[in-house]
Amino acid sequence: YSLIEGPGGLPVVSLVNDHGVASIALQGATVLSYRPSDEADVLYVSESAVFSDGQPIRGGVPICFPWFGSHGTDAGKPSHGTVRTRAWELVGVHEHNGALTVRLTTREGVLAVAFEVTLGPRLGMSLEVEHTGRSGESEVFEAALHTYLSVGDVSGATVTGLEQTDYLDQLEGRRRLTQGDDPIVFEGEVDRIYLNTSATCVLHDPVFERSVAVDKDGSRSTVVWNPWIEKARRLADLPDDAWQRFVCIETGNIADNAVTLRAGERHRMAAALSVQ
Ligand code: BG6
Repeated sequence: YSLIEGPGGLPVVSLVNDHGVASIALQGATVLSYRPSDEADVLYVSESAVFSDGQPIRGGVPICFPWFGSHGTDAGKPSHGTVRTRAWELVGVHEHNGALTVRLTTREGVLAVAFEVTLGPRLGMSLEVEHTGRSGESEVFEAALHTYLSVGDVSGATVTGLEQTDYLDQLEGRRRLTQGDDPIVFEGEVDRIYLNTSATCVLHDPVFERSVAVDKDGSRSTVVWNPWIEKARRLADLPDDAWQRFVCIETGNIADNAVTLRAGERHRMAAALSVQ
């Protein structure tokens, strides 16, 4: 592994082994790339992403924590929490059974947060939160691994695994709806928080002729997002046509699935990406 100067001069950890290549910016502990051997990058990073201290990176896998989306009570607080915009501490990299794992940490109040990325037969990502406060105290948090998956053309892409699952439609004030039996297709803006699901999701991409599976553990919510034409225009760090090139499948614990942690307790949420 090596610590290199990435885009905008930001420090980036680069992992290379027989399984492929991965890179992680210390800024937000944002995974920027995952290329299994002989494959194009699984992750999408915006061609106009901003790489700068204090700015979230548009693409890869930003971490939303300790809240998802806008803050519940304070509109002045940043979207998706506080940790995606700060530099995390690099604790170290270790090798085990031919896989490389990098560990990064940060802290939000009494919550100590560790994020590990493992480059093995799959790309593993694990977010562990520990309540380090005084006994009797508890904290509620939301979290998401906001995974931007690269697609050849979103119009032909489908997502399976969430059939018959309840979701909150972010386009209708979080109205509660239920997914039918069909795969998710993209024919307009999609912004949904699926609840009470631990299912593996698969993104099928007929243009790249591959499928990407998102397996998860310790996560009860899955967000599926594509901004489509109008919203992509409104996002300054995304080219106008970029909506065609990614789908977000986000492993999380959000809304009804927010996590309550008492002092001394830990919670772990993990996701693994694999190409099929
Ligand atoms: C998604 C949300 O996870 O992130 C969307 O569901 C949001 O509502 C999108 O627009 C991007 O958020 P941001 O803060 O990175 O622009």
